[in-house]
Amino acid sequence: MNSFHFQNPTKLLFGAGMLNQLGQEVSAYGKKVLLVYGGGSIRATGLYDRIQQQLKHIQAVVHELSGVEPNPRLSTVRKGIAICREQGIDFILAVGGGSVLDAAKAIAVGVPYNGDVWDFLMRKAEIHSALPLGTVLTLSATGSEMNGNSVITNWEENLKKSFGSLHAYPKFSILDPTLTYTVPANQTVNGIVDMMSHVFEQYFSPTTNTPLQERLCESILQTVIENGEIALASPDNYEARANLMLCGTYALNGGMISVGMQNDWATHMIEHEVSAIYDIAHAEGLSILFPNWMKYVFKERMERFVQFAVRVWGIHPEGRTEEEIALAGIQATRDFFTRIGAPSRLSELGIDAKDVDRMAKETVRFGPVGAFKPLGEADVRQIIEMSL
Ligand code: NZQ
Ligand code: ZN
Repeated sequence: MNSFHFQNPTKLLFGAGMLNQLGQEVSAYGKKVLLVYGGGSIRATGLYDRIQQQLKHIQAVVHELSGVEPNPRLSTVRKGIAICREQGIDFILAVGGGSVLDAAKAIAVGVPYNGDVWDFLMRKAEIHSALPLGTVLTLSATGSEMNGNSVITNWEENLKKSFGSLHAYPKFSILDPTLTYTVPANQTVNGIVDMMSHVFEQYFSPTTNTPLQERLCESILQTVIENGEIALASPDNYEARANLMLCGTYALNGGMISVGMQNDWATHMIEHEVSAIYDIAHAEGLSILFPNWMKYVFKERMERFVQFAVRVWGIHPEGRTEEEIALAGIQATRDFFTRIGAPSRLSELGIDAKDVDRMAKETVRFGPVGAFKPLGEADVRQIIEMSL
């Protein structure tokens, strides 16, 4: 195990009815609020009115940025920054899924910065401050509710880049599982795949002697697998939605489950460059790419893949070689994704070989990706080609 720092400043308010505490939480930060939300799901579900009521109780002056896209765009972030500056906003409230939360974070760090917010995504500038922000999560998936990461698409240049900063952690996040009852089946599937992928990125690590972290990862995976299928069959099953919500938050919250471990993140870096060009859902890309990444790298440290197969998927090791066990675990992952309805080939989404070189090149813009097996451009190209 490596030495580590760990700090996570986000306060969680978890459970049915927690929305009633929103006004009180916001009032600690000021009266001028920018409410950030997506394409309309919060209006359709009635959540918008409940939020406005809470803000009315504290006599907040509310400005709005609506229409944040799935795969949120830089142009929308810039609009939000302009509103904050013009209106002297004190606090940003993000209500939605990962896209809305990520856009809100980019706005929060962009407001006090003299240059262009895209500098942070292109690693040309460091983040030193941010407007405070809080979230009401409506979709369990990214972990954005308890981390400092934001992923933004520059659609004009077909680039999708991320930043991570302690300044961008939400001050609080309201996690009410009942707000996810209306998440459609395909987005529930995306959430399941995304949170599992976040665990994979941490679990498949070159670091040794990390038994607690490995078991935390395995527990999250098992809990997601069990509860994901229940939530898909019964979208308003509170326990299943609550378990998924907690798993999503724990799976990516500043690395709590993988302290002292080197993380990988290569598959995420590859996926971001696929969705930068094709605007597919993040988790659709992950569902296709992850089992192929696994096949490409598993021999680097086969024992971790054997452990994964046996502990997470219950593969019986008797009578099989290590390689056969590892491959059975990878196949079980693919079969699970397929069973819940996630895609397995890029061609299913209309993506062909035309942009493979561009995606591979862009993935390694800042150098080789991954830690389990560091990948250069040629490796990335092969993984994308396996996924076509
Ligand atoms: O836009 P609205 O109308 O709100 O509809 C959304 C959107 O169409 C809908 N939705 C959300 N909550 C709902 C709901 N529909 C009905 N009922 C509800 N309760 O779901 C659709 C997808 O929402 P989105 O926010 O795009 O999904 P997700 O949470 O999966 O976020 C994906 C984005 O997060 C980034 C991805 O790259 C992608 O851009 N990621 C962010 C990370 C982070 N900040 O740590 C890490 C991840 O790896 C990921 O890269
Ligand atoms: Zn992800």
